[in-house]
Amino acid sequence: MPASREPVAVIGTGYVGLVTAAGFAELGSEVWCVDIDEAKVAALERGEIPIFEPGLSELVDKNRSRLHFSTELAPALDHAGLLFVAVGTPPTYSGDADLSAVHAVVDAMPASDRHALVMKSTVPVGTGAAIQRAFGEQDKAGFRYVSCPEFLREGTAVQDFLHPDRVVVGDEGDWAGDAVVELYAPLQAPLVRTDIRSAEMVKLASNAFLATKISFVNEIANVCEETGADVTEVARGMGLDPRIGPRFLGPGLGYSGSCLPKDVSGLKQLAGNTGYHFQLLTAVIEVNELQKRRVIGKLERHLGGSLVGKTVALLGLSFKPDTDDMREAASLVLAARLQAEGAAVRAYDPVAEEEARSLMPTAVFAASAIDAIHGADAVVLVTEWSEFRDLDWEAVASAMKGNLVIDGRNALDPRAVRDAGLQYEGVGRR
Ligand SMILES: NC(=O)c1ccc[n+]([C@@H]2O[C@H](COP(=O)([O-])OP(=O)(O)OC[C@H]3O[C@@H](n4cnc5c(N)ncnc54)[C@H](O)[C@@H]3O)[C@@H](O)[C@H]2O)c1
Repeated sequence: MPASREPVAVIGTGYVGLVTAAGFAELGSEVWCVDIDEAKVAALERGEIPIFEPGLSELVDKNRSRLHFSTELAPALDHAGLLFVAVGTPPTYSGDADLSAVHAVVDAMPASDRHALVMKSTVPVGTGAAIQRAFGEQDKAGFRYVSCPEFLREGTAVQDFLHPDRVVVGDEGDWAGDAVVELYAPLQAPLVRTDIRSAEMVKLASNAFLATKISFVNEIANVCEETGADVTEVARGMGLDPRIGPRFLGPGLGYSGSCLPKDVSGLKQLAGNTGYHFQLLTAVIEVNELQKRRVIGKLERHLGGSLVGKTVALLGLSFKPDTDDMREAASLVLAARLQAEGAAVRAYDPVAEEEARSLMPTAVFAASAIDAIHGADAVVLVTEWSEFRDLDWEAVASAMKGNLVIDGRNALDPRAVRDAGLQYEGVGRR
């Protein structure tokens, strides 16, 4: 890699910021990272990675000499012209994006004509224009602005940074946009260089489309359950059509995590704020909510109508495998609903237990899958960590009190489960 690449700053060192920082360091840049979380910065300075993300720890270690961490903005402003913003934009109670962290960053910028904010955080369309207006009102009109939405996925974030499907750069055709394009050039990804509003919309529309695909296939799976078709076969047949494609056609417990739910609501609200009623997204969101709750109906049907006094083991708690992120995880809804119906919840996750404990205070946490299953009337596979595919189903059958296995992700081999004398039910599978 070239030794002297443009130095950059990254503001917000969470899932996106830390991966982006390590990725740019890998490409040869000095990276000046800023976060307001003192404990996080102290941990990063000690070489500890505060999140579970495959390959990230190695990438940070390898590029340690080029990565600088601080709670202060000044060193970042001194050393870098491009300031990548990766602060959180969680949903507010109304479903709009909470931009308070973004505004805090904007307000902290000095007047300058050699700096640019490069927005990695997912923001509503029009945010860039509002920030440029704010810069003007604050006598910082020389500060440049670039939209560069992020598409990495937790669990494969390092690979996604190094091998992106596309790089989207929304700017006004100035030095800052050119510099961002230059930074990403070694990755040789298709480039979409466009205006700021369109770049902002690419991110929201992409996530809304993915969510729509998931809700669609979940509805197909539910109709398969009623009609005797097998959704795995149906999805295979559909996915071979190149206009449809095979990815994101796996039914399950719906989409979850820190991005899809908030971005779908954010786009729906954004449209609503302009007076446009985005009807399709209303249905996508409703289908997604009901999908998690269908598991409760399946449990009731198999366990004699009531869950009072039953014990249910949840396998996998993080919102997807290979991450410890619990934001909007299906396990949270399931645990709450099960407890409301009178069931006891036993739970296990290979990495998310610490985070889950504070969010599921009445669940009993187990140290292994087989420990969680012990004495359970039913097992629900919530997150398809690979270790669950290889479970010894004979051992599961002897550890359980009951014999019901609900596969919320269609990740298990039904025959292996049934051969152990267990009852298997997936999503839309015959
Ligand atoms: N997580 C993903 O998979 C993903 C993927 C694509 C896009 N995004 C978007 O990227 C953004 C960041 O997401 P994330 O998951 O990395 O969030 P995160 O919560 O993991 O990290 C945000 C970080 O920003 C820090 N922060 C908050 N205010 C700050 C400030 N004023 N100055 C400096 N640091 C500040 C926080 O302390 C935290 O460390 C969001 O807009 C999200 O929608 C996330």
